[in-house]
Amino acid sequence: MSESASQLPVAIAGTGSYVPERVLTNSDLEIMVETSDEWITTRTGIKERRIAAEDEFTSHMAVKASRKALEQAGLDPSDLELIIVATITPNTLTPATACYVQHDLGAHKAVAFDISAACSGFLYAMKLAERMISGGTCKNALILGAEKLSAFVNWDDRSTCVLFGDGAGAAVLKEAEPGGGQILATDTGTDGSQTDLLNIPGGGSACPITLENADQRLSTLAMVGTDVFKQAVTRMRDSANSVIERSGLRPEDIKLLIPHQANLRIIEAVTKRIEIPEDRVFVNLHKYGNTSAAACAIALDESHRAGKFGPGDHIVLVAFGAGLTWASAAIRW
Ligand SMILES: CC(C)(COP(=O)(O)OP(=O)(O)OC[C@H]1O[C@@H](n2cnc3c(N)ncnc32)[C@H](O)[C@@H]1OP(=O)(O)O)[C@@H](O)C(=O)NCCC(=O)NCCS
Repeated sequence: MSESASQLPVAIAGTGSYVPERVLTNSDLEIMVETSDEWITTRTGIKERRIAAEDEFTSHMAVKASRKALEQAGLDPSDLELIIVATITPNTLTPATACYVQHDLGAHKAVAFDISAACSGFLYAMKLAERMISGGTCKNALILGAEKLSAFVNWDDRSTCVLFGDGAGAAVLKEAEPGGGQILATDTGTDGSQTDLLNIPGGGSACPITLENADQRLSTLAMVGTDVFKQAVTRMRDSANSVIERSGLRPEDIKLLIPHQANLRIIEAVTKRIEIPEDRVFVNLHKYGNTSAAACAIALDESHRAGKFGPGDHIVLVAFGAGLTWASAAIRW
């Protein structure tokens, strides 16, 4: 792919999402660990989550979401030039999940790779793809957030297992039509001094899983929930405010805020601080829990298909996750 110096406006041409069939409710979890529907609902807002089948991998969910986004964009997979999958639960450590997606879609022309930015991954991918199209590196891109978190959850740890779920969301980006929708501003940030707050400690080169440590469940999610909560509120507020300001918008211009779907209390605290009314905030975490990189992508597709915004409306997406990472995007649809 060749570079050119042009700076073209970029728009979202289609969205898609997929969640697995199996529903795991809070009542189901009451049988698995010492918890209650009341505790989970009041602390998080989550009522149920989806769990992928054993033979249903991250790439399978990504492909299903992709097909819907491509269909809506009116783009044939063979014309795709770039595929970025944001995931922390890849099919395999290598090759990238994006390679499986490229093959299954028959998108032979597309360069395909993964990025790992946890719950902010979909918006990191959006920024990257927007910059690549805008700079003339490629004409279009398929970006995905896709996760099979159920494979990396310790189902005996009540403090984490109630929070997460599986699913995938996709968006097709391409050069904007004159006078049409456009990605107006993006923001990404990282604070690598707090890697201990939320991580999967084992299974990487720092701590391979061995016969000796296999029973410690080191390849499952570990989190210091209270500290993550505080950081999430501040970082999401600052990131969302930055894209709103840089787009020349005011909070009252935002038709819909689509925040990362981790915890209803985090969403309420962020919303209050950005001064956007509650009825302009999209929430679906009660159905899916926290699907990490997939959360904003699924929420974008669901809210779009539900007609929560339309051509000319301004929306803001904002996310926060392990790393620590945060990201946002302001879009005129
Ligand atoms: C995880 C979270 C819901 C916990 O809520 P909290 O109010 O901070 O709860 P605490 O961790 O202080 O735990 C309070 C008590 O509930 C208990 N508890 C934890 N999980 C429980 C569960 N599923 N059911 C019942 N009790 C539970 C704890 O053991 C603790 O008991 P103790 O006081 O006897 O020690 C909250 O910290 C949170 O949402 N953090 C952000 C998580 C997140 O969104 N992460 C992803 C960001 S991308």
